[in-house]
Amino acid sequence: MNSRIKGRTRLIGLLGDPVKHSLSPLMHNIAFKALDLDYVYMAFQVKEGFIKEGIEAMKTLNGAGFNLTMPHKQSVIGYLDEVSEEAALIGSVNTVKNVDGKLLGYNTDGKGFVKSLEEKEIEYKGKKTIILGAGGAARAIATQLAYDGAGEIVIFNRTFSSAVEIIDNINKNLPSCKGKALQLNEEELIREIKDASILINCTSVGMEPNSKSIISSNKAFHKDLFVADIIYQPTKTKLLKIAEEEGCNYMNGLMMLIWQGAIAFNIWTGEHMPIDLIRKEIFKS
Ligand code: ATR
Repeated sequence: MNSRIKGRTRLIGLLGDPVKHSLSPLMHNIAFKALDLDYVYMAFQVKEGFIKEGIEAMKTLNGAGFNLTMPHKQSVIGYLDEVSEEAALIGSVNTVKNVDGKLLGYNTDGKGFVKSLEEKEIEYKGKKTIILGAGGAARAIATQLAYDGAGEIVIFNRTFSSAVEIIDNINKNLPSCKGKALQLNEEELIREIKDASILINCTSVGMEPNSKSIISSNKAFHKDLFVADIIYQPTKTKLLKIAEEEGCNYMNGLMMLIWQGAIAFNIWTGEHMPIDLIRKEIFKS
């Protein structure tokens, strides 16, 4: 019998609730095995209010690091020794590295999105981006894009106040990017999209089993607009189908998901995740 797990194998964990449906254990363990790296990745259900205990457990077990998901991405910050500049601006951490008992926090969600744009050679520096939604994903993506040199970011959200909160933070801390918050409204959206380069759906509208689009009018699209949906199930949302019909270049959320994992993998191991293998093995794409 030959097991990959030995005496010196280091633990990396996902702390969150729920975690059962996470693809992260599959993604990281396939990559550890492919590169013959001595780590194992496990998902742990850590209930809301128990993140302190979760972190202490990882530290006690000398884990190499961990990921965080709902509901711990914000509350974890108070228990870390250092937080990267981007993660501090975003106000949430999804990746922690344990360096000899010192916990260093990062956010790879926004970076994962930016990396997937770069992979498609989409220019965002100095350009205008429209973001639909103002939840955790929108906040990470908007802030990271502003940090990385976006010219203008407009956030539309059903709940106006959460869009304002993200934009106020950008305008205060990253003034080289012009930020604007607007109440979700199709007419205004059509006006704003005219001179935009990128449109990103960060709402859950269109996610299985919902088959709606957050924008119903195809008048909103022009062929120089790059349309991104952070949803990856279904692989082509109604929004992306409309974008395709209108001749726009587009992408779904799959590569953002893979890249946020790949950047975390690199933080823990110093190695590059075999992206093509992960895409083939897990996502059959
Ligand atoms: P995530 O962590 O993935 O960003 P979230 O924080 O729950 O998820 O955010 C979901 C986003 O989808 C929010 O912007 C939400 O709008 P509200 O802030 O008004 O709740 C948006 N959303 C969800 N359902 C929506 C709907 N039917 N119409 C418009 N926006 C919707």
